[in-house]
Amino acid sequence: SSNRSVKGMKGHIFLVGFMGSGKSTLGPPLSQRLQIPFLDLDEVIVRKAGRGIPEIFRQGGEAQFRRIETEALRATSAGGPSVIALGGGAFCFPANVEIVRSSGISVWLKVTLQEAEKRCQGDPERPLAQDPIRFQQLFQSRLEHYEQADLAIETAEKSPALLVEEIAQRVLSMNS
Ligand code: S3P
Repeated sequence: SSNRSVKGMKGHIFLVGFMGSGKSTLGPPLSQRLQIPFLDLDEVIVRKAGRGIPEIFRQGGEAQFRRIETEALRATSAGGPSVIALGGGAFCFPANVEIVRSSGISVWLKVTLQEAEKRCQGDPERPLAQDPIRFQQLFQSRLEHYEQADLAIETAEKSPALLVEEIAQRVLSMNS
């Protein structure tokens, strides 16, 4: 129908998964491959709030971050078909899952705890990656949410180029 983009995408492609799973890395090349725009929800949040994520957490706590995140997701989802990288926690709240379900396909990028630690532990831009115990607890408790995604992609030992092609193939076959 006329709502479809060139490649026939009916809705958004939401990249979900833990911190360090590759959402922001794979998003741009995937969006090029599918010929739809790329949006990073964390960047939308920062623009909306006029300050960085660590500042939002420092000043308003995680609760305020989550409120802005849901608003940003709602606004972003109202646009035309895009690849949208969510922050690691976004798909773990029912209101957000509802928005994602009603506006596109969710793709879980599976990463091991060890790899996520290597990529994120202590990153000053990630308030929830400072304490190793908390990081590990979050990793465990979020699996049951990520499992609700429409597609699951094993990322271990695969190059970005290979992953992009694998995701594109699976998404396009769901859309046809
Ligand atoms: C968060 C992950 C971050 C960012 C914020 C909270 C989380 O995004 O949204 O720091 O709750 O896991 P990334 O997954 O891109 O690091």
